[in-house]
Amino acid sequence: MNYRHVFHAGNFADVFKHCVLINLLFALQRKGKPFFFLDTHAGLGYYNLISEAAKKACEFESGINRLLAINTEKLPLAVKKYLEIINQLNNNKAIQYYPGSPYCARSLLRPMDRMVACELHPEDYLHLKQVFVRDKQVQIQHENGYSSLKALLPPKERRGLVLIDPPFEQENEYEQIRLSLQNGLKRWQTGIYAVWYPIKSGSPPSEYLSKLKEDLKTEILLIEFCIDDRVAYQKLCACGMVIINPPFKMKEELAELLKFLWMALSPYQQGFYRLKYL
Ligand SMILES: C[S@@+](CC[C@H](N)C(=O)[O-])C[C@H]1O[C@@H](n2cnc3c(N)ncnc32)[C@H](O)[C@@H]1O
Repeated sequence: MNYRHVFHAGNFADVFKHCVLINLLFALQRKGKPFFFLDTHAGLGYYNLISEAAKKACEFESGINRLLAINTEKLPLAVKKYLEIINQLNNNKAIQYYPGSPYCARSLLRPMDRMVACELHPEDYLHLKQVFVRDKQVQIQHENGYSSLKALLPPKERRGLVLIDPPFEQENEYEQIRLSLQNGLKRWQTGIYAVWYPIKSGSPPSEYLSKLKEDLKTEILLIEFCIDDRVAYQKLCACGMVIINPPFKMKEELAELLKFLWMALSPYQQGFYRLKYL
């Protein structure tokens, strides 16, 4: 396992993914019943942006730093919440720590909600465990996130969200995702599943997407976000998320969110954002 998310923490893809995650959890909060959140590839919990690793490529400069530089009161609700989470983590001081997906999600849990986060890297797991030590609503597992879909679904709450955010360092990652989703949906057909993926070659992984559509036979919302399409994708500039069983009105809500984020993160208005049902 070579991948360490700290090298990418706070980049445009994190901003996109974490704001979408918050929007999905808002939708689950709308009902007064408890929900379950499973983070299959959780990472460190939060990241130190002044560490040597984070400063190596300073990816946060074209991500969270661009968003923080925006001067407007008119923020989509998910962005407002996201910035509140960042402020709270940094004690209202200048940003040094960046919240990862489990940290963002924890901020959206109500006392009746529950979360499980899996992380396979031994050091990252220990850090993550420490972040949530003595937190009764959060369980941290040193487990393969794909297996957790088998082990933990369906949750007793019967409503909730699974985030699948792998490093894509294995050749068969797309196949593993597809099989895990098939398995997950067999066990828990009504769950919401959100899967992040990189867009590297200028086009989305279309074979994988069409196989998903064929296999899963349920509603799938596809969202794509690119901050610059001039650089022939030498650096990662585009990514997407597949949202299975999207909550009511999610497409409209995400359209507003993505428009705002794209204006904020793509200073020369290069690239694109797109939303469509598969
Ligand atoms: C892209 S990072 C996750 C970032 C995190 N979701 C966030 O948004 O803050 C992927 C993480 O998955 C971990 N990982 C890789 N393979 C895994 C597996 N099979 N099960 C659980 N974790 C895994 C890596 O160590 C890495 O920390």
